[in-house]
Amino acid sequence: MSNGTEVEFRNVGKIFSQGKSQVTALDDVSITIPSGSIVGIIGYSGAGKSTLVRQINGLDTPTSGQILLDGRDIVPLPERQLRSIRRNIGMIFQQFNLLTSRTVAGNIAYPLKLQGMPKAEREARVKELLDFVGLSDKGRSYPEQLSGGQKQRVGIARALANNPSLLLADEATSALDPTTTREVLELLRKVNEEFGITIVVITHEMEVVRTIADAVVVMANGKVVEQGSVYEVFSTPKTDTAANFVATSLRNTPDLVEAEALHSQEGRLFTVTMKEGAGFFHAISEVERAGVSVNIVHGGVTTLQSHSFGRLTVRMTATDAAGEDAVENF
Ligand SMILES: Nc1ncnc2c1ncn2[C@@H]1O[C@H](COP(=O)(O)OP(=O)(O)OP(=O)(O)O)[C@@H](O)[C@H]1O
Ligand SMILES: [Mg+2]
Repeated sequence: MSNGTEVEFRNVGKIFSQGKSQVTALDDVSITIPSGSIVGIIGYSGAGKSTLVRQINGLDTPTSGQILLDGRDIVPLPERQLRSIRRNIGMIFQQFNLLTSRTVAGNIAYPLKLQGMPKAEREARVKELLDFVGLSDKGRSYPEQLSGGQKQRVGIARALANNPSLLLADEATSALDPTTTREVLELLRKVNEEFGITIVVITHEMEVVRTIADAVVVMANGKVVEQGSVYEVFSTPKTDTAANFVATSLRNTPDLVEAEALHSQEGRLFTVTMKEGAGFFHAISEVERAGVSVNIVHGGVTTLQSHSFGRLTVRMTATDAAGEDAVENF
């Protein structure tokens, strides 16, 4: 069951002009976000992530290229039509953007009120949404009486009020601690599973991508430098940018201090990447037979999207002359 919107960027460019200088915020971006999927967009500050989401809901217009929502290019559409498309897109933010003068229920009801939904219907819908996000007892509270995680749940309830088919989350968990982040991400996963809504998660934390996303788009300087399934990008990052992000989430490569300590000891170090079915342990047992002692000194195995992969650093020490050859040739 999926009634999520499909989003496609075709050669999208966005140039901001500031006086005489120009900033290329998006440079020939082509991506496809399948209907009903959760896609993480990751990049360092200034990579163009927020600019990218702002093009999806038509809050901004690209300088070039096409943006297709379910196959229809929204770039040439007039504001009136963009407004009706926007009603189909929910948005959640890092700073929650709740109205401080309204109660939790009032915040969630707000988009419904704007749209002219009758009061009784609105109240029923708000109750349903509060139940869904686990805040049934907080309807009468004000935002300032809530924790960050609770505020974001309200943000999610409000974003869902209109039954959107696309949800955009720009750094939605960046203000939250790791445990609360996980809870909010779990709620987003539930949103995706129960309603089939496509979710675009903008983040600078690879851990967020790993926890929730099916696929990931890595951005740098306005360009898409890498994209693929979470398993592909985590197990085989092709660019330094992607590899650096992966390293922040998977502690499977020794850092500088660890590497120095490891190198100060005897023997030779090898780093091996394992994928399912790889003959790694077979190769190890061969060299051990040839007079080499092998110790795993760093690394780990990870399971993602039901594939396992790992990176291990091993120390090989020759125990005799034949072993020295074996280490040399490993
Ligand atoms: N309205 C604007 N006018 C001029 N330049 C802009 C504007 N919006 C964004 N930029 C520039 O475009 C680039 C991309 O900005 P953007 O906000 O999309 O980055 P980001 O990846 O979301 O960064 P962050 O992680 O800090 O939120 C930056 O160089 C930024 O200065
Ligand atoms: Mg941003």
